[in-house]
Amino acid sequence: MVLSRAASDTDVSVHSTFASRYVRSSLPRYRMPENSIPKEAAYQIINDELMLDGNPRLNLASFVTTWMEPECDKLIMASINKNYVDMDEYPVTTEFQNRCVNMIAHLFHAPLGESETAVGVGTVGSSEAIMLAGLAFKRRWQNKRKAEGKPFDKPNIITGANVQVCWEKFARYFEVELKEVKLREGYYVMDPEQAVEMVDENTICVAAILGSTLNGEFEDVKRINDLLEEKNKQTGWETPIHVDAASGGFIAPFLYPELEWDFRLPWVKSINVSGHKYGLVYPGIGWCVWRTKEDLPDELIFHINYLGSDQPTFTLNFSKGVQEHHGELPGERHGGEGGPGEDGALQHRVQGRGRAAGGLLAQGPQPARRVRDLR
Ligand SMILES: Cc1ncc(COP(=O)(O)O)c(C=O)c1O
Repeated sequence: MVLSRAASDTDVSVHSTFASRYVRSSLPRYRMPENSIPKEAAYQIINDELMLDGNPRLNLASFVTTWMEPECDKLIMASINKNYVDMDEYPVTTEFQNRCVNMIAHLFHAPLGESETAVGVGTVGSSEAIMLAGLAFKRRWQNKRKAEGKPFDKPNIITGANVQVCWEKFARYFEVELKEVKLREGYYVMDPEQAVEMVDENTICVAAILGSTLNGEFEDVKRINDLLEEKNKQTGWETPIHVDAASGGFIAPFLYPELEWDFRLPWVKSINVSGHKYGLVYPGIGWCVWRTKEDLPDELIFHINYLGSDQPTFTLNFSKGVQEHHGELPGERHGGEGGPGEDGALQHRVQGRGRAAGGLLAQGPQPARRVRDLR
């Protein structure tokens, strides 16, 4: 929890069951202790308290049932002390991120020429990716409006009411009005007709979800694209689409390769995906990829040169661990081009997610329409 609460009389001290002369008097819970204690005692006390947490291997309730291959653990431990921000110090790590971005962009059919590199960034998760994608849409819309001499102070974004909380956060933090398409009995995702109906000249983008948080269902991105195509032709607004593929981005390309939801659709300009939603990647990794360089306004990219060379960055945080990049890469490599390998981690993830989605669907108000129904 981000916000802490005030200590009550009963919980001002840590009640450790660990017997040692170092803990003869209770350790304060919310204040720095007066005296130091040996590291072994500190370890024991903290470890004892952590035993009250749930066991991630038994966590079937959320998206983050986590286990990784022992080889990934080894790679992660080998790089746990690197700070990603020092790109000059850790050029191979930067290269790994770039490879992942390119693999994902190709997987999502970004229109890249043979020698062209993809535009994207590794993030802490889909939430950060969505903040960045949203900012890019807002800035592009503002630039267009300014160039046309029109007001640019009332941006809005269209989503379904089933949207994950990070979209509400984006809207509130970055002052964009969130216009939600209401759900209705028996239909628990964004209705494409209603969504495009709500688009106006101030709409920075329509955000479609591939894998709704409520029931795992895919929204009909192709239909939204086709309707927007018509509307954009009539209005000249050029309203784009972002696909929140946090949960579906590593499912759809493998289970439903014919389903058009990604950069095959011309109005899809950016896509986010979580690395950690599939059970076989530890939390802390997401991705945002843009269709082309033009879809990410240059002024949002900061060029720093603290260590000598130019380092372009587009992230919310400066410092960050690198271990998740190293952990995720074996999954991508193992899977190989164009699909998961025989026992690749991507394949595991797909299977793992299939199980997770099954669990989610079963909990929904009624069995969700499967993706086939949307084609
Ligand atoms: C559709 C959707 N978008 C975004 C997110 C946020 O993802 P993350 O936890 O990676 O920040 C979630 C998480 O549940 C989600 O289901």
